[in-house]
Amino acid sequence: MTAIRPLVAGNWKMNGLGSTLGELADLRARMKAAPVPDADVMVCPPATLLTRAAEVLDGSDIALGAQDCHPLVSGAHTGGISAEMLADAGATAVIVGHSERRIDHGETDALVNAKALAAYRAGLTAIICVGETEAQHQDGKTLDVLRGQLQGSVPEEARAADTVIAYEPVWAIGSGLTPTPADVAEVHGFIRSVVSQLLGEGESSAMRILYGGSVKPTNASELLFVPDVNGALVGGASLKASDFYGILSVYCDPPAT
Ligand code: PGA
Repeated sequence: MTAIRPLVAGNWKMNGLGSTLGELADLRARMKAAPVPDADVMVCPPATLLTRAAEVLDGSDIALGAQDCHPLVSGAHTGGISAEMLADAGATAVIVGHSERRIDHGETDALVNAKALAAYRAGLTAIICVGETEAQHQDGKTLDVLRGQLQGSVPEEARAADTVIAYEPVWAIGSGLTPTPADVAEVHGFIRSVVSQLLGEGESSAMRILYGGSVKPTNASELLFVPDVNGALVGGASLKASDFYGILSVYCDPPAT
């Protein structure tokens, strides 16, 4: 398999005001002053901050992503934000199917699939999230759940160039708990094999599969160099530039201190 360039994406979730943009400026400065991580870097602030974040990041190597999109282009959908609107605001990617949307908003695999197609339509990369709940994990259903989510959520049109899969065990998100590196390796290898069945070996061998769930500077080196892990989707630890850079620094050579 050819080397896949890792991606570390920060998901700010429903956090961040104009005053928080200083963290983005701080991150930009750290990436210029300190060793540059050998990885693609992205920040996904709330939609309200996209335009201003795009200004802060203009000309930097930090990409801008969004956290969700409506499947349709436009119309009478109060509160909805289309993928085209996100692209217009400066985003180049969008997270779809995050477990918080699947759980809080009842999003189905079919809806997530439609949102990924909307992302492609607008020229955005789709970061498609999958992950089992704690109960499913305890019942030994993890791989079955993931197979179903991938079959339902990943469009036939998905290509490695515009699609990223994020494996986020629901029980690991925001909990400080993480799977063992061996479990992460098994699950990521399984995800790649399902993607191969869905899209073919060529796409699956080039597709980035991120791990997400309680990634911190202290555990990043343990989790991110596992086979078939091509980066991270980071929640809480992406809100502070120092923590986020601490995670990115595992991709620096020599490691940043
Ligand atoms: P966490 O969130 O890093 O705070 O666990 C990860 C995510 O939900 O993307």
